[in-house]
Amino acid sequence: MHVTGPLFPEASCSLVARFLTPAMFDRLSGCKTATGFTLARAIQSGQKNHDSSIGIYAGDAESYTLFREIFDPVITTYHQITGSVRHFKNLEPLDPADLDPDKEFILSSRVRVARNLFAHAFTPHINRQDRQCVERQILDALKNLPAPLKGRYHPMGELDPGQIRDKVPAGRAFAPGDRFQEAAGILTDFPLSRGVYTSKNKKFMVWINEEDHLRIICMEKSGHLCRVFNRLVTALDMLEQYLVFASDPDLGYLNACPTNIGTAMRAGVHIRLPKLEKQPDEMAKLARAHGLQIRGTAGEKTQVTGSVFDISNRRRLGVYETQIIQDLSLGIAALIKKEKNL
Ligand code: ARG
Repeated sequence: MHVTGPLFPEASCSLVARFLTPAMFDRLSGCKTATGFTLARAIQSGQKNHDSSIGIYAGDAESYTLFREIFDPVITTYHQITGSVRHFKNLEPLDPADLDPDKEFILSSRVRVARNLFAHAFTPHINRQDRQCVERQILDALKNLPAPLKGRYHPMGELDPGQIRDKVPAGRAFAPGDRFQEAAGILTDFPLSRGVYTSKNKKFMVWINEEDHLRIICMEKSGHLCRVFNRLVTALDMLEQYLVFASDPDLGYLNACPTNIGTAMRAGVHIRLPKLEKQPDEMAKLARAHGLQIRGTAGEKTQVTGSVFDISNRRRLGVYETQIIQDLSLGIAALIKKEKNL
């Protein structure tokens, strides 16, 4: 396909708009992955949403190699990689420590990883039948969970809008409102074959077929970040015996969005910082120094309410999972110290 006009609107400052030249698009536009995914499909969310920060999604594992020319600069820039891209993995349990023993600041700790089954197209490109097959395989694997993680599956199709609204804040449901996902094709046939598995004690969850086939999540209402991480390690050890995840030796675990490859892990806390809130420059400086990402109270692209921030690691590739937790712990400690001193 030969492009004549600009690929992205002028206002677009996404990474894909920065790196995808018309010549590159011309070269790659005739290529199709084995499942039939194209570059035109990969960038449609970034083309529609001028405020995308990344603007590209993978339709399957092969997208990352076939369209490497564009994925690589997006990946190295987002994950701040200098030199060659390399995936590191260390999912060993850590010594538990409470980041907020006086319970003054941290409301909850959460660690999640994203995973996809290697044999199926990813959510922007999966068909109805495969999506159902993915759901079934994951539910079968979850039957083997050890007792403390056992729970119930809630298919999204069985929840009415009121129930979804009630469950979303605690992450026990996901709402289909994301226009970035919508434009990428991720919400096709919603709510079919989507759902959330929740353990009885609500400290372990698996989102099925949201942005990825699996989002495996551990959380609790405390500053015990390492304990939460260790619980996730237990769940992953079990799931890896039953499911084969899409991965690449250099890029690590492969997921729909290039921000979520590598360890594919986001660890974070909900933390109340009323004094730092009034000093956004100070807060941004500390965040930068510790590689933290600051999000609104309800997560990505939301506002801060009641001075509660969602603070997590920015990088997910080229760093060990255990290192992410340790770096994050130091960053949170620095923020708490600053808040106390203000
Ligand atoms: N596609 C969106 C953007 O480019 C989201 C990127 C990261 N977030 C995500 N949930 N994958 O801004």
